[in-house]
Parts: sequence; structure tokens; C-alpha cells
Amino acid sequence: MGDFAREKPRHHHGEEPAYSPGISMMMPELTDAEFTQLSQLVYQHAGIHLPPQKKELVRSRLTKFLRSRKLASFQEYYRQVLQDSSGLELINLLDAISTNMTAFWREPKHFEFMGQELLPALRQKCKGAPQWRFWSAGCSSGEEPYTMAMVLMNTISDKELSGVKIYASDINTQVLNQAQRGIYPMSRVEPLSQEWRRRYFQKGVNQWEGYVRVKPEVKQLVEFFRFNLMESFPFKQEFDVIFCRNVMIYFEKATQTELVKKFYNCLKPGGFLFIGHSESLCNISHQFAYVKPTIYRK
Ligand SMILES: C[S@@+](CC[C@H](N)C(=O)[O-])C[C@H]1O[C@@H](n2cnc3c(N)ncnc32)[C@H](O)[C@@H]1O
Repeated sequence: MGDFAREKPRHHHGEEPAYSPGISMMMPELTDAEFTQLSQLVYQHAGIHLPPQKKELVRSRLTKFLRSRKLASFQEYYRQVLQDSSGLELINLLDAISTNMTAFWREPKHFEFMGQELLPALRQKCKGAPQWRFWSAGCSSGEEPYTMAMVLMNTISDKELSGVKIYASDINTQVLNQAQRGIYPMSRVEPLSQEWRRRYFQKGVNQWEGYVRVKPEVKQLVEFFRFNLMESFPFKQEFDVIFCRNVMIYFEKATQTELVKKFYNCLKPGGFLFIGHSESLCNISHQFAYVKPTIYRK
């Protein structure tokens, strides 16, 4: 049982950076012009649309950068991001802005459909050993692709599993690190049955009391990588199933249309696209056939 061998986060009391008097402990002001500059930068790179009502959120999420870099204004911060040729400042900015809410077994109907209808259908179509490819696009901290892995393990044989891979990507490097580590506070796995918690997780001991870790056999089904969905896709008719749930809500209609087209092109004929329950392809033009609410087929 896991003594997960990782240091717990340390608290550095008294090591707060010194602030210039202008920004002291108060929140620095974010002017409308600065908000426009920053939101355009985010839109340009990640496709994420930040309407004016998100101004307060942007200010609160980025204030830490002004403090740690001892900058007096968002204007200075913006300049620093532009000037950083390593691209690291931009990565940090996008990490801070993207919203990463997720959960195990989130939107259960999708996973029930996957276990009860989709996998049997794929199996029926399959001639030799299955070579199925799944993609969790916008996987956040890993709960979604790990749930897919558990559904697969629960439904198909070990022999069939050997030909299956789940790819899982996100633009946010911090959540990807968490996903790769596969360690979660116990409360995160509450949506799963006790049986699944026992089968697919190890309980932490000692300093890891109160945490669980995804078992290696679940983990090895999933391959994580950083990928910005705004980029052109290097994949062609490769995937049987794509989950892109609760990601497109942050994009404008034109960006969504373009992305859905790219998903279509990289799915195998007959492949499935899952989107979030609060999303819809209703108002965008696409070539998918409707299967059920939020489930589509090429
Ligand atoms: C709300 S989470 C959804 C996580 C999971 N799919 C679910 O439904 O539980 C949205 C994720 O999309 C990612 N994201 C936003 N813009 C992206 C982009 N341009 N490329 C890749 N991932 C992006 C965010 O970093 C975030 O982790």
C-alpha cells in the first residue's frame, strides 16, 4: 500500500515577497484597457473567450504574478509576458486563466453509454484484436480519462485491453502534472462505488493518509500530453472515441465550429464524439450524426 513518496506541499511562513508600496496587500487595479489586452492574448493563444464579466476573475487569478514579480501594474505584467521569449510566462498565464473543474464519473450517462452500448458496438464491428484509440481532449487533472479507463477495465477482457489506449491532453501544465501523478484526496473518489475504489485505487498511508492513488494497471492505459486544441491536429482518422466535455463552452461559435471539424477529421468512420451536458452542436454546422443528447457519431 502506497507510501507515495512525494513531499507534501511546504508552507514558507514569512517568505512572502516584499511588495512595493503601490500594490502593498491590496489588489492591484485592472483597467479596461489592460483587461482587453490580456483577454486578447488569451484568445489568440488558447481560443478562450473572456467576456467583460470575467474581468474580476482575471484580476484575482493574475494578481499573484504581479506580487511574485514585484510589478506595479497589469500593463507591466502584459509586457513581461510578451517579452519572454521562452514562452514560459505565457504558459503560466494560460495555466492561471483556464478553468479546470472536473470529477470522477462526471456526467454519468456518458460512462453508462460507453459501457453498455458503445463498447459492445465497437466489439461487434471489430474483426481481429481491437486496436481502439480514445482521446480525452481537455482532460484537466485526469479524472475523466481515468474514469474512461475504469469503464474499459470493467467491460472488456484483459486480452482486449492490450490493444486499447487512451490519450489525454490539456493546455494547462499544472493540471497535467496532477493527472500524471494520479494522486487524489479521498473525497474526490466519492462519486465512485466502493467496489471501484477498491479495485482501481490504492489507499495512502502515513503522510498520505486521506489520499488515494490510481493503480498502475489503470494508469498504464492512459497517456497524457500537453496539446493546445487551437493548433492544427497531427492526427488523421485515428480515434474511435473523443471526449471533449466542458471545454468548448469557453470558445466562441467560430472556434467551436473549427474544432468540431478537426474532431470529425481525426475520428475513424463510425467514431463517437462526446461533449458536455451543457453544450450542444445545434447552432454550429457539422457533419456528425446525432446519437443522443451530447453524443454524436461520424
Ligand atoms: C472545465 S475543464 C473540463 C475537464 C473535463 N473534460 C470534464 O468535463 O470534467 C476544461 C479544460 O479545458 C482545458 N482547455 C481550455 N482551453 C484549451 C485549449 N485551447 N486547448 C486544450 N485544452 C484547453 C482547460 O485547461 C481545462 O482543463
